[in-house]
Amino acid sequence: MDNSQSYLQELNRWADETKKTLENTNLPENENWIETITDWKASVIRYLEQGEEIMTEDLQVLQDQGQRILNSMVNYYQMDSVPYGKHQLPPLPYAYNALEPYISEEIMHLHHDIHHKAYVEGLNKAEKALYLNLKDKNIIKHWLREQAFNGSGHNLHTIFWFNMTPNSTKYPIKEIKHQLDKDFGSWEKFRELFTNVASSVEGVGWAVLLWNPRSGKLGVQSIEKHQLFQLADSIPLLVLDMWEHAYYLQYKTDKASYIKNWWNIVNWEDVNNRFVEAKNVKWKLY
Ligand SMILES: [Fe+2]
Repeated sequence: MDNSQSYLQELNRWADETKKTLENTNLPENENWIETITDWKASVIRYLEQGEEIMTEDLQVLQDQGQRILNSMVNYYQMDSVPYGKHQLPPLPYAYNALEPYISEEIMHLHHDIHHKAYVEGLNKAEKALYLNLKDKNIIKHWLREQAFNGSGHNLHTIFWFNMTPNSTKYPIKEIKHQLDKDFGSWEKFRELFTNVASSVEGVGWAVLLWNPRSGKLGVQSIEKHQLFQLADSIPLLVLDMWEHAYYLQYKTDKASYIKNWWNIVNWEDVNNRFVEAKNVKWKLY
């Protein structure tokens, strides 16, 4: 038997062993991976059955495919990154009715289960089109816009859910308290400024407290259109959803009450954790 044949048999054995391991686990998506490996194994077997010397280039292609499958699988199960098109809706860190009376259970259901889910699905679709299967290069702009819109929507909602808690300290704490005092004069002054930013958002957008590594200061900003994300390079610490779906059902046009009540459920522990992590990012200051 020549070298390429014995190498093919080795690949075939690897496919069998990996499939067996996956079959014996309850890992998520294991059926998809088994299917992928079975497809690849079929090509290996085709060459084996020909029983002839395989061209070096063909062997290389086969080997690369196997390596890619293995890398994606390791990547997927280690969860050290989110594979393209595989974002998931994070579960709420509290019950749907936990933020009542400030935000109703009905809003939380619609907001999380319908609106946030739609962003996750839109982002996955955009990533698949951009990174895995770009068929029409002429519409790349469309998919970039979809990625920005849905990606910002997914990220901001994820921050938003954790930014809130039924057990709010009601006042900033620890490092973030000191920085708010340092940069804005006092917590009350910051709250007034942030409230004004939130009120200024017209219908669809967000109010954001952010850390600006370029100036070494906290700042506030509104984000009015996800696809035109301003202040790239900055890290949002605290966000308030001012899209109408976030409050209209309960507060109708009384945007001011929504903002005022929302301060009762801010999770300052979370804001502080985000701040401490974000401060590790060190840009050269300009
Ligand atoms: Fe929202």
